[in-house]
Amino acid sequence: MKNIENKVVLITGASSGIGAETAKLLAKDGAKVMLAARRADRLKELTDEINQNGGTAAYRATDVTDHGEVAALVQYTLEKFHRIDVLFANAGLMPLSYMRDNKFNEWDQMIDVNLKGLLYAVGEIVPIMEKQGSGQIIATDSIAGHKVFPGNAVYCGTKFAVRAVMNGLRAEEGPSKNIRVTMISPGDVDTELYTTTTDETMKQNIRQSETDRGLVSKDVANAVAYAISQPGNVVIDEVIMQSIKQQG
Ligand SMILES: NC(=O)c1ccc[n+]([C@@H]2O[C@H](COP(=O)([O-])OP(=O)(O)OC[C@H]3O[C@@H](n4cnc5c(N)ncnc54)[C@H](OP(=O)(O)O)[C@@H]3O)[C@@H](O)[C@H]2O)c1
Repeated sequence: MKNIENKVVLITGASSGIGAETAKLLAKDGAKVMLAARRADRLKELTDEINQNGGTAAYRATDVTDHGEVAALVQYTLEKFHRIDVLFANAGLMPLSYMRDNKFNEWDQMIDVNLKGLLYAVGEIVPIMEKQGSGQIIATDSIAGHKVFPGNAVYCGTKFAVRAVMNGLRAEEGPSKNIRVTMISPGDVDTELYTTTTDETMKQNIRQSETDRGLVSKDVANAVAYAISQPGNVVIDEVIMQSIKQQG
């Protein structure tokens, strides 16, 4: 795709699912990708695969809930690639449960990864993009950022919040600072995200819905590439997407 070659793209949540597939696709189109997540073994494997296929990738194990680690990741990206054209803030968790079951630790985790993880990266990278005079910040939001489902209240809360933060960022940085702000909001995608649920009732529900998960990571990666590939004067505010089986 056009306008992707040589762009430096920092991807969080790159060790599996949507992040990993997006890294491969963008690297194939000539982007230089920096991969971040906690599982270093997965990141190394993916980095080696991309580099062996003629792409340019590097990685750094990072827990996005730790501000210091996110700041170090951003510095490492600058050392390696000298600029950051695109942040794809994609790391996320979705341990589902009913609120009456009081999974306080899991609520904390979701808020820390899905929301604070995004904020730390945005806070570190916006000043760099301002200095560069351009940039694009893309977050993986969700249809769960638009609709609330039973058992998903806290996850949806984080995704509604991501949308508020991204809309605020667009209002603050968009027109005057030449920073494009984009959300990618998929419905169900077949990834490891569903394994983060520990609650037995919810696990049962997830198993029952498994055959209906119509999107795959590649579908979402295509949407990210589409948003990046637009000419500099065009902003894709949000891509809302779901499988044909789930539309309605
Ligand atoms: N799958 C869906 O149905 C769906 C639908 C809408 C939106 N989304 C969103 O899509 C995004 C990607 O999820 P996915 O579906 O691709 O699931 P996934 O395969 O489970 O990927 C989640 C990624 O987030 C990373 N991550 C989790 N906690 C982290 C932390 N503390 N620090 C750094 N990285 C962390 C994981 O890596 P490590 O474990 O190695 O750290 C992994 O790379 C999430 O934001 C999710 O909410 C997914």
